[in-house]
Amino acid sequence: MLEAKKLVGKYAASYVEDGMVVGLGTGSTAHWFIEEVGRRYQAGELPNIQTVSTSEASSQQARQLGLPLKQVEDVNGIDLLVDGADEATRQLTGIKGGGGALLHEKIVAEQSHRIIWIMDETKLVEQLGKFPLPVEVVQFGSWKVFDAFEQAGMKPSFRKLEGDQLFITDSGNYIIDLHLDAISQAQELANHLKSMVGVVEHGLFLNYADMLLIAKQDGTITKIERALAE
Ligand code: A5P
Repeated sequence: MLEAKKLVGKYAASYVEDGMVVGLGTGSTAHWFIEEVGRRYQAGELPNIQTVSTSEASSQQARQLGLPLKQVEDVNGIDLLVDGADEATRQLTGIKGGGGALLHEKIVAEQSHRIIWIMDETKLVEQLGKFPLPVEVVQFGSWKVFDAFEQAGMKPSFRKLEGDQLFITDSGNYIIDLHLDAISQAQELANHLKSMVGVVEHGLFLNYADMLLIAKQDGTITKIERALAE
């Protein structure tokens, strides 16, 4: 699927126009988008763009490419955010956070006028939930939040790095993944998670994406747009 990710990542960069404030997503698909934006910038095609990143990893890549990088606080909105997703539906709902960047991704998404998700076809699903739902929690008392998830039958697991060390997000929090298998009431679940003390954010992105760009194995790209999806 590397080729599919590369194909769609690079293709998405054709939506970037000079003068835009561009949101840089996170992950192995967004990586190719950032590479191509960097190439176009270096070629002089986009001399007046500014970028806002959704993670330390993407910021580092942007700096290496010489892209003008701003903090989200320093721009007056983001014209176009291109990001990956772990699962998405034709109704443009999705799960994000497989790379652990969900909080910063959502903060940048909130400021974005247009959002494109880029993905390979394996991520297009009828129902969300096969992919474990990431929930970012503050470290203090996190085992209590974990217990609450367990008692509710939500099959939680702490996100770990190799060697059993707990994964820590760019904001210094833990991630608990919920192995739900199928999410039937996504909005209710999102509301419930947001109401829990200790939960900072969750990976349900229900009303953010305006368009999906989906790369297929045969090298073609399918678009699903909000206007057509509703
Ligand atoms: C990062 O936390 C995620 O939300 C990514 O956008 C998502 O996991 C997609 O990643 P890949 O493009 O690496 O599959």
